[in-house]
Amino acid sequence: MQLKILAIETSCDETAAAVIIDGQVKSNIVASQAKLHAKFGGIVPEVAAREHVPSIIPTINLALKTAKTKLTDINYIAVTAGPGLFTSLMVGVQTAKALGLALNKPVIGINHLEAHIYANFVGQFPISNFQFPILILIVSGGHTLLVLMKGHGQLKIVGETLDDAAGEAFDKTAKLLGLGYPGGPALSLLAKKGNPRAFDFPRPMINSKNLNFSFSGLKTAVLYTVQKMVRSDKKLDKITKQNIAASIQQAIIDSLIAKTEQAIKKYCPKTIMLGGGVAANELLRQRFKQLAIIYNLQPATPPLEYCTDNAAMIGLAAYYRIRHKKIKADSYFEADPHVVLK
Ligand code: KG4
Ligand code: ZN
Repeated sequence: MQLKILAIETSCDETAAAVIIDGQVKSNIVASQAKLHAKFGGIVPEVAAREHVPSIIPTINLALKTAKTKLTDINYIAVTAGPGLFTSLMVGVQTAKALGLALNKPVIGINHLEAHIYANFVGQFPISNFQFPILILIVSGGHTLLVLMKGHGQLKIVGETLDDAAGEAFDKTAKLLGLGYPGGPALSLLAKKGNPRAFDFPRPMINSKNLNFSFSGLKTAVLYTVQKMVRSDKKLDKITKQNIAASIQQAIIDSLIAKTEQAIKKYCPKTIMLGGGVAANELLRQRFKQLAIIYNLQPATPPLEYCTDNAAMIGLAAYYRIRHKKIKADSYFEADPHVVLK
């Protein structure tokens, strides 16, 4: 019998649904609220939650229709349980539980960060050929983690940010440059034409012995640089902005790569993986692949459209948990905005 999963994701500002059949992505629908939040320069939690409500059922229906599957044929419903914005999570969790109850199907709560790892498993059906142990660098808007994965459901955090996440560093510094929201893609586009050595921004903790990151100092350094230029009447012209963007991007990526390299030396993984929205960054993907070549490791980066939040990754995380009997499908789980990785 085929294993058919309906997956739902509403942890932040994307309303998403997907159908996964035997580990293959049959549909992946994302209704983005990005334009709505751009007006405010960032995500407004109350607005995000309200917007999920009218979108969720049409998004699920479209995912089912695209996958040519009926709701009654689904075996499992998987939904993001956390971390994320509480009221946003609640929309997905309550919808999944209601569907589970009405259809008498098991509902599985999935960790959003674990799911970002499974974005790498798109196209790997019915089973993946990645070799364990896997070292994963998760870089999203809210988290920056180094995770050691010895098998499915066997995850251990070995490094994390002490303050801002890498995505936050992109977003906040982009805001200082007046690039709007979301800042990451805009900043990396501007950085393409800039000189990454034009400004010497800090790379905190790069020489520390542990595997932790720190990015809040970067935001302050960029703020001072911009303020100093304004005070001394130096123009923040297009070329200067391009140079600042390229230098910021370089500083963030240098920190991420240095700590990943330290973790490779310490844990000797067979595979290294990227996950989270910042995994869409072209330069980071290049540098990550170069690192894999140097240490003779198998590299994995998610297909671009699966880097930022989507429901296919939720369904794939559920699929591997079901296959490896690492699930609790009892509908008793609750949305948990603060959980990291279990
Ligand atoms: O994983 P994600 O979609 O949402 C969270 O779970 O947080 O990540 C969103 C983050 C944002 O901070 C966004 O600016 C960043 O990913 N991002 C990028 C790029 N595309 C998205 N950062 C740098 N370069 C990109 N190309
Ligand atoms: Zn995410």
